[in-house]
Amino acid sequence: MEHIAFIMDGNGRWAKARGLPRTEGHRAGAETVRRVLSYCRDAGIRYLTLYAFSVENWKRPKEEVETLMHLLVAYLTSEEKTFHENQVRIRYMGRKSDLPTEVREALDRVETATAAYERQLILCLSYGGRTELAHAAQAIARQVARGELDPEAITEETIARNLYLPDVPDPDLIVRTSGEMRLSNFLLWQASYAELYVTPVLWPDFGEADFQAALDAFASRERRYGALGK
Ligand code: FPP
Repeated sequence: MEHIAFIMDGNGRWAKARGLPRTEGHRAGAETVRRVLSYCRDAGIRYLTLYAFSVENWKRPKEEVETLMHLLVAYLTSEEKTFHENQVRIRYMGRKSDLPTEVREALDRVETATAAYERQLILCLSYGGRTELAHAAQAIARQVARGELDPEAITEETIARNLYLPDVPDPDLIVRTSGEMRLSNFLLWQASYAELYVTPVLWPDFGEADFQAALDAFASRERRYGALGK
């Protein structure tokens, strides 16, 4: 497997079950992010994409949004050394202009510092699949308006080329924790042929055995891409 993506769900429920504020669930969730990055390294997976904050998540209470933004800056700062040790390139996907200055600056800094590495950790922040497609449509419309592109020549490849990170291969497997059977506006275009795996485990509890169970489930699937099986 080349690319695994996670919908990290269940932080709030994890905290609630312990009588803790939701923000403590996000703190524990950030620890899971550290672990999962090392599982991917050990499994030789080149791309890891994490849905850390959606365009819809801005509707959450101010305190929760602030904690999440703070956790992201803390994560990027405290893990920078690990990124270098493990040669991980940090990349960003989403509407960067929405993010507070501290988050933007931390991202820009780490993205630049790690740009030469092959393995990638892709953070989706203020990300929405529909927003990404709308941005791609705008970019394509500009090319048409400038006379650089004939509308009849627009193909699937044209759209794929105008997504946020066109060089990243589509995910092979999308894992969602905490049981919900939804994509929640994640990687709508790129998910077309991805295998989906949903586990009831809450994101803060997600451990190595759960990661292995997801890889095992993936290995047992037959991917046909619409063609006939073997
Ligand atoms: C979903 O759980 C999780 C989020 C909205 C945020 C994910 C963020 C982190 C794991 C921490 C920071 C990220 C990084 C990359 C360091 P929820 O709050 O919707 O849980 P619930 O459905 O149980 O309420």
